[in-house]
Amino acid sequence: MNTATAFINSLMAAISNCSLYKSDHPSVDSYVKKAFGLLTQFFDKGETLEILIIEDELVINKNPIKNGGLHIAGFIKRMKRKGISRIDFVKGISISELKALVVDLAEQAREVKAYPHIKTGIIDVSLTDRAEEALDEETFNGVASTQVEHLREIYNDVSLFKPINIAGLEEIVINFLITLRREAYILRLLSPVRSYSEYTYTHATNVAILSMFQAESLGFSGKLLHEIGIAALLHDVGKLFVSQEVLEKRGRLEKPEFEEIKKHPIYGANYLSRIEGLTPLATIVALEHHLKYDGSGYPTINRKQHLCSQIVAISDFFDALRSIRPYRRALEAKEILAMMKTRASKDFNPFLLDNFSKILLMTLRRK
Ligand SMILES: [Fe+2]
Ligand SMILES: [Fe+2]
Repeated sequence: MNTATAFINSLMAAISNCSLYKSDHPSVDSYVKKAFGLLTQFFDKGETLEILIIEDELVINKNPIKNGGLHIAGFIKRMKRKGISRIDFVKGISISELKALVVDLAEQAREVKAYPHIKTGIIDVSLTDRAEEALDEETFNGVASTQVEHLREIYNDVSLFKPINIAGLEEIVINFLITLRREAYILRLLSPVRSYSEYTYTHATNVAILSMFQAESLGFSGKLLHEIGIAALLHDVGKLFVSQEVLEKRGRLEKPEFEEIKKHPIYGANYLSRIEGLTPLATIVALEHHLKYDGSGYPTINRKQHLCSQIVAISDFFDALRSIRPYRRALEAKEILAMMKTRASKDFNPFLLDNFSKILLMTLRRK
């Protein structure tokens, strides 16, 4: 067992004992002491300890913890209940600070306080950070930005009573294909997220680029390659029919709000299925992009997820995580890939994921 896992196990044992007995019970102190000892091992190596909870995964110092066992699962659950998705332990921490954290976490009703060497918070999508924008702007090639604009115009025209501009979408896809052949470093083609209102378009274009990149490497060409690009551009179109207020809400969503968001695949498929001349693949992908490889996910459909939906689901997840900025640190491509790997066969088609990871890492090396 590595030090990180051992640390969480001791910390969680201290928390459980603290909930069961009282905070001054000797078993609590002994586990806190053990956890503290393990924590100092990180500092001795000059490292800090960064713990992220992303969906149901624990990521410690950029490494996802695989098959963590009961303590890890319990820890994730407890953090989620407290609304915490990030903890940083910084050098200089005292054993009494660690113990105070244990007491805070052990009691349901208790808020986790701020400590000088322990920083807790949420992985927030911070979209208004100026420094981040400037950085992204520099690395962003700009080729895709015209297409984002173009897609915005097309999306602005979407209404239940109007068909979508298919020729416009086709044009975007062709431009992406040209760009994909020119730019070896694919991540540079992805647009940074500047604001919530722009997320819809930037995300859609990013998912289209990533999906076409995958499809081409798998041997898709001609009409089918275009169609997957169009389907990817429209995968989230159903979100345009979800209330703005719910979509743009910061922080935790209430259950009915989440249920409303979960309807976007059905809204999208309904809308797209009625558009004459549009590839049926767009309807399929819109409906299935939140399905998982093992058949779970939403909406409940009694059939296997289409291969193109599996491709788009991989691009979708990758881009969504790329846009998360926990305390201004964007997750690196390698981290996201490592995390996705722990979900292969369950959430994602393992063959497609393996391929995605290989082609993306190849371009990273070429950078
Ligand atoms: Fe979606
Ligand atoms: Fe999406």
